[in-house]
Amino acid sequence: MEPEPTAGAPAPLPEALPRLLRRELAIGGRSIPGRLVFASMSMLGHVAFRELLDEFGGCALLFSEMCSAKTIPTENPRVSNHFRWRPQELPRLVCQIVGAEPEAMARAAARIEAEGFFGVDLNFSCAAATICRRGGGAELLRRPEAALSILERVRRAVRIPVTVKFRMGRGDDPEAAAAMARAFEAAGADALTFHPRVAPDRRARPARWEAIGRVKAAVRIPVFGNGEVVDAEGCLRMLRETGCDGVALGRIAVARPWVFAAWTGLAPAGREPWRETALRLHALLERHFAPRDALVRLRRFMFYYAANFTFGHELFRRVQGAADMGAARQAIEGFFAASPGVCRVPNRNYFQ
Ligand SMILES: Cc1cc2nc3c(=O)[nH]c(=O)nc-3n(C[C@H](O)[C@H](O)[C@H](O)COP(=O)(O)O)c2cc1C
Repeated sequence: MEPEPTAGAPAPLPEALPRLLRRELAIGGRSIPGRLVFASMSMLGHVAFRELLDEFGGCALLFSEMCSAKTIPTENPRVSNHFRWRPQELPRLVCQIVGAEPEAMARAAARIEAEGFFGVDLNFSCAAATICRRGGGAELLRRPEAALSILERVRRAVRIPVTVKFRMGRGDDPEAAAAMARAFEAAGADALTFHPRVAPDRRARPARWEAIGRVKAAVRIPVFGNGEVVDAEGCLRMLRETGCDGVALGRIAVARPWVFAAWTGLAPAGREPWRETALRLHALLERHFAPRDALVRLRRFMFYYAANFTFGHELFRRVQGAADMGAARQAIEGFFAASPGVCRVPNRNYFQ
């Protein structure tokens, strides 16, 4: 993708970062080409967005948005909005599943293996009430024995890597998180992604990175640190301060999908393709989704993308108000025609 000049000058890339991020990493007998991965993001990490990430490059492993384990065994990828992929991404794509029943999770994992995914990721971190009420996501951290029986059952069902995404338990205790990590390793997890926040806190308090260090020190399997990395300097600091093996990017990856290419040194610094990226995602959404589903996803993306601009609320407002994808495209064109100012890091008021 050809970058274009912008008003905002990005901070220089820390010299050590590309080398650190481009080291291979072994996960459960397989290998990934780097240390920077895309975290699971519901309604944002869909097939169209992942294609956009792939066009930029630099992302070593992609996690799908969470998929309900119950529906996966019978899901038709040609019509499903969530359980859908491009064949070429499968070798680097992990499918995340959410659920509370070991048998259902194992059946979903078996289908994921049969389809050829890199691995399966167990969501023990989602704090959404609809998920927790049914006993899944972060609710499982309150019942560690239930989380472990899911993991053990899935482990027995597949040979592909099994990974776990989890966060701090309700007690906000790094030692308890480290003990949980050890239990996951003993139950057969091949890698962990750890987000050091209690659930639910709506990201109101800062992530406690020191807890990532505790989790990393507790296990031998790879640990991806996750939480509040918004620039290259922060990424380097997370690696150095916590000793984590890699970094999982969530919101900044949505706001600036080229960060994987930029921080791994694949893309030239200083020319960020603001307008082109918004239009490209628009086109990919149109290709992969029915018009209404595409528009819902474009609006969701704009929460994060609009945060890049000094008058981002204008972009946000115009796209939210667009009646269809054609009007949304015009809204994007109109906003960028006025050469908007760019913030050094995305505006956190949008960045929930
Ligand atoms: C809109 C949104 C959707 C998310 N969806 C998921 C999900 O489906 N599965 C999951 O494990 N985490 C999900 N997360 C959590 C992120 O993966 C990540 O842990 C969190 O955003 C913190 O990382 P960040 O500071 O890099 O954004 C979601 C977060 C947001 C903001």
